[in-house]
Order: sequence, then structure tokens, then C-alpha cells
Amino acid sequence: MKRCQPIGIFDSGVGGLTVAREVFRQMPGEEILYFADTAHVPYGPRPAAELIRFALEITDFLVDEGAKLILVACNTSSSLALDLIRERCTVPVVGVVHPGAEEAVRLTRNGRIGVLATEATIRKGAHRERVAEINREMRVFGQACPRFVPLVESGRYHSEEARLACQQYVAPLLEADVDTIVLGCTHYPFLAPVIREAIGEKITLIDPACQTVAQGKALMEKGIIPVRDPRGPKPRHRFYVSGEAESFGRVGGALLGLSLVNDTRHVCLD
Ligand code: SIN
Repeated sequence: MKRCQPIGIFDSGVGGLTVAREVFRQMPGEEILYFADTAHVPYGPRPAAELIRFALEITDFLVDEGAKLILVACNTSSSLALDLIRERCTVPVVGVVHPGAEEAVRLTRNGRIGVLATEATIRKGAHRERVAEINREMRVFGQACPRFVPLVESGRYHSEEARLACQQYVAPLLEADVDTIVLGCTHYPFLAPVIREAIGEKITLIDPACQTVAQGKALMEKGIIPVRDPRGPKPRHRFYVSGEAESFGRVGGALLGLSLVNDTRHVCLD
């Protein structure tokens, strides 16, 4: 195990910072190594084979940089590549799809669950599969939201455009009478306030970040992964982007309430 053994996290862009934020909350002593594949965002419209290749390349990079645990903080990559990542990875791997689907099963009262996600995630149907494994009686209604990731990456998640997109995407789920909605893309928690406006107060909204990090933490508590000594030096988080660093630093920094500018580096994996 190299260096200070960070937790590796990756996503197509700023969305996975919603998972990083949970790591800071649940495991404040840990250091993170975050990779945002901003050269290829949005992932949603891209073909599966390409997305699998990106996921494997990024995982190799994080492991080479010393990651002791990988959190796949991207629903699209988790849906398409989780088993392949696990097969070739020498460290434990946790994805975001199962924790989100499992939490929905636990919280729904009427057994009707909505999933807002990218086109690729909805096509793959991984949330539906996981729900069916737990309870065949439950119904899952998926809605692809292609306008969401670009709105979040450009920091326009409170805009009128975001409001209209939310209204359009949640309408079929309201029609289907779901009582629980999974935010099936890590970018979408940025939009939670506008999604909440569009769905009203009664529907349960699930951000899988909390359960995903809890699963990672449970592996640490079982002793499978070494825990960083909280009495050691202050964690120094590192952020890598495959595209340009400025907008990642600006939008991501606003989400985390920290300045990411000095800790963000460009890296090319191709
Ligand atoms: C995307 O970049 O299109 C998706 C990220 C995710 O699925 O969480």
C-alpha cells in the first residue's frame, strides 16, 4: 500500500463530490483521491463499451496512486462496469447503484419506486434488477434526464432551465404514483431543491451517497481496509480532472465549501 492510503473516488465530473462530502462527514480522518473524467462528461449518451474502458482506466490510475478502497461515485459506471472493476481490482470496490436501490426498497410504503438517471443507466436497468432481487412485487419506473448533468457541470442547477427540466422529468413519475425517488446519478443531489419543489413534500428522495459511504465504512470497521490514523497530519485531499481544472474547481468548490483550486490537477489517462 503506497503513500497515505487515500480513498479513491471517481465520477464523470463534479457529481461524485456528493459522495466525497459524505466521506468527509462520516470518516473525517480519511484522505481522498478524486478523479473527475471531465474530458468525457456527460457519460449518459456514450456507448457502454467506451464507458467500461474509461471506468477501468480510471480505476487503474487510482490504484496506482495508492487508493485502498474505490468508491465508484458514478451510477452510469456502477451500472455498466462494477463487476469488471471488481474482477481486476486489487482493493475493495463499492458502487452507488445497489445502496440507492436497497434504500428505496427499505423506505417505500407503496412499492412504487422512481429512478431519475442518465440514459445509459436507465437503459441498463441496474436499479430495477437490484430491487427485483430483493422484492419481486415492487415496481420501478425509470426516467432518463439528459439535461441534468450539463446543467450541474455548468453550475446552473438553480436556474429556471433546471426548474423546467425537473418538472418535465418528474411528471411521468408523479403520474406513476411513486412514493420514493432515487437520485440515480451523483450529479442530481445538486438539483435536489428544485426536484423537491417539483415533487412536493410527500415523496421520499434518496441520495445514495450516504449509504454508499456507510458500506465503505463498514468494510473499514471489519478491518478489511486500514483506517487512517486520525492523530496523523491533517488530511490532504487530491483532485484530478481529465479536462480543464478551472470550472471543476469553481463548481465543485461551491458544493464542498472549500477551495479546490490548489489541489486540482489535470491528468491525461489515454
Ligand atoms: C454522467 O456523467 O452522465 C453521469 C454520472 C452518473 O451517472 O452518476
